[in-house]
Amino acid sequence: MFKRLRADIEAAKRNDPAARNKFEIWLTYSGVHALSWHRWANFLYRAHLKLLARLTSQFAKFLTGIEIHPAAKIEGGVFIDHGAGVVIGETAEVKSGVVIYQGVTLGGTGKEKGKRHPTIEKDVIISAGAKVLGGFTVGEGAKIGAGAVVLKEVPPHATVVGVPARVVRIRGEKPDLLQEKVDPNAEEIRALKCRVHKLEAALEKLTGESFACTQEEIFPVAAGPQPAAAESAGQGGEEKNREEADRQ
Ligand SMILES: CC(C)(COP(=O)(O)OP(=O)(O)OC[C@H]1O[C@@H](n2cnc3c(N)ncnc32)[C@H](O)[C@@H]1OP(=O)(O)O)[C@@H](O)C(=O)NCCC(=O)NCCS
Repeated sequence: MFKRLRADIEAAKRNDPAARNKFEIWLTYSGVHALSWHRWANFLYRAHLKLLARLTSQFAKFLTGIEIHPAAKIEGGVFIDHGAGVVIGETAEVKSGVVIYQGVTLGGTGKEKGKRHPTIEKDVIISAGAKVLGGFTVGEGAKIGAGAVVLKEVPPHATVVGVPARVVRIRGEKPDLLQEKVDPNAEEIRALKCRVHKLEAALEKLTGESFACTQEEIFPVAAGPQPAAAESAGQGGEEKNREEADRQ
């Protein structure tokens, strides 16, 4: 219990630039208080003293403005900043290093049974007012933007924003840029080119003919009329005009 309290205080010190010292954090941070109350409530819950556990969690909510169901699994080293309006549901799991800001809900959609609250992997940031609803996983190191409503799994190290939340960055890069780097059409073309080269080499061996294509064969439309042909057509036209003028 004390080990986890120490980890919670260290997490607050690490994540809050306004935090001055550990003693002040222990005395004044409602997120740290809520987590300490939760450890006790969770102990009572696991000891099958469910009513007492519920009473403890409601008392903690009255003191801190943070409601955590006694059955929720929260590791040490989680930081709940400011705290007011945070709700963490019964089957939610929160791993160490997670930062949760005010107004966050780790809830259910109301349509699921059993595991209906999210699992938040290590080092995730859940910004102010974000709602994470459902029994899916938010991958390690992900960032959830302020006010986002997350309804499906979030990949590790992704940033998701908006309602409903969509991925706007993965490890700080735009996902469409990533897509360009692994463009499936380009990959297909590369595979086809490779096969064509191999077939050409085999045919050249058999027939002794070269199968290299000219520019005109590759781009028949773009090549257009050949400059020499166009020139000769122009010269022919001029000669005809001169002959007609002579006759007149
Ligand atoms: C999500 C957040 C953590 C930033 O993550 P990030 O990975 O650094 O993302 P970026 O700042 O590069 O933003 C990525 C894109 O999302 C947009 N974006 C960022 N936060 C957003 C939000 N909350 N809602 C909608 N769009 C948002 C950005 O404008 C940017 O858009 P672009 O792709 O058009 O350029 C941050 O924006 C956020 O919401 N912080 C709030 C923290 C908080 O709750 N503080 C309270 C302290 S009391």
